[in-house]
Amino acid sequence: MTYQNYSLKQLQQIDAAHHLHPFTDHKELREAGSRIITHANGPFIYDADGTEILDGMAGLWCVNVGYGRDELADAAYAQMKELPYYNSFFKCSTPTPVLLSRKLAELAPRNVSQVFYGSSGSEANDTALRLVRHYWALEGKPQKNRIIARKMGYHGSTIAGTSLGGMDLMHKQLGGAVPNIVHVMMPYAYELALPGESDHDFGLRAAKAVDDAILEAGADKVAAFIGEPVMGAGGVKIPPLSYWPEVQRICRKYDVLLMLDEVITGYGRTGEWFAAQTFGIEPDTITTAKALTSGYQPLSALLVGDRIAATLVEKGGEFYHGYTYSGHPVACAVALKNLEIMEREGLVDRVKNDTGPYFAKALQDQIAGHELVGEVRSIGLMGAIEIVRDKATKERFLPAGSAAVTVRDHAIAQGMMLRATGDTMILSPPLIWTRETIDMACERIAKALDLAQADLRKR
Ligand SMILES: Cc1ncc(COP(=O)(O)O)c(C=O)c1O
Repeated sequence: MTYQNYSLKQLQQIDAAHHLHPFTDHKELREAGSRIITHANGPFIYDADGTEILDGMAGLWCVNVGYGRDELADAAYAQMKELPYYNSFFKCSTPTPVLLSRKLAELAPRNVSQVFYGSSGSEANDTALRLVRHYWALEGKPQKNRIIARKMGYHGSTIAGTSLGGMDLMHKQLGGAVPNIVHVMMPYAYELALPGESDHDFGLRAAKAVDDAILEAGADKVAAFIGEPVMGAGGVKIPPLSYWPEVQRICRKYDVLLMLDEVITGYGRTGEWFAAQTFGIEPDTITTAKALTSGYQPLSALLVGDRIAATLVEKGGEFYHGYTYSGHPVACAVALKNLEIMEREGLVDRVKNDTGPYFAKALQDQIAGHELVGEVRSIGLMGAIEIVRDKATKERFLPAGSAAVTVRDHAIAQGMMLRATGDTMILSPPLIWTRETIDMACERIAKALDLAQADLRKR
């Protein structure tokens, strides 16, 4: 029986009766009833009432080629008929992860040519954490196992992902994080730069926090630094250009590995295949997932630098780690087709040379001037809008986060899906957006801001 036999109300009731949602206040949701999305096409999603909504978040930062791609469905169907599953344990492989690994090695930054698969970004970060600690143990330095991460970083929701992440509320519910992970300041100039401090200088100061954390532990105790090139779930925090080269210089100085979490930024989001290329960095690991299949199948790929891989292969013996679905043939078939589409349509170049710059200008011209907006910022096709009570002093509305939720709710009512995180609105649309789609989005956001302003001023 398909869902069409159920009314919206019935689906909501069943959802409330049995379905525990991720990152959700269940009581609140069950009282309100969930929004049920039933289908999607191109840049639009549709709910059970048939309402068309422009998807400013590409699902959850993942549907880079947009919805309704028959080619991806066909690739999955063909692979399922031919070989729906076989594992890559005990010296077996299947063709699609083999070919996908070569493709990823081709696209990845220099000296990164090996791939370990999982089904989610969280799993890939578990693999990454185990791998870097294992690397140092194999190199005869088991005590070199501290990881430096960042406050407000997001690295997933497994125990390792939560521990690497710097989200206090998640840590509070964890009941004990993975040991020996510390968190340093984030490169978030809007709130953390000192009065009069230039972006450049702020970037260097934020990077120095990494240096300080290494010195505090002793370089012989620090395995790696991990960070999202642009912090995503934490609020699209784009570091000053001085930040990453300096972090890389510091890591190299102390022989600390550099781990990038590109679960959001990978596969074109910032106008290059990887943000490592956008920021000119050469990491030792790159965590990727989401847009690898444009979200059509769950798949993650941890890209592993040749230095780590060489030790793992030459000295490692068996690596006691892996997942049933590592290198899943169907997910890898979809990923191969997805990358083919992105290349054929030149989506990454388009973000770099056309839609990315246009998006930045549209946000500046059409949104930044609004009275509720403290700052807009973007890189490629990811952007943020800071919601403030007072533009000049950056004072926020109270309670924290409530104003952004008001804007979001009005935006959705205007047919525009975007997300509120803290007091920041975030955008990460499919890479198929055109200049026209960007204008449509800005128009709807501006309207939502006006409506929100009317509500908020009543408070
Ligand atoms: C930077 C980053 N890392 C890891 C993850 C976790 O990925 P998943 O939800 O697929 O486990 C996310 C998810 O949003 C993410 O944004």
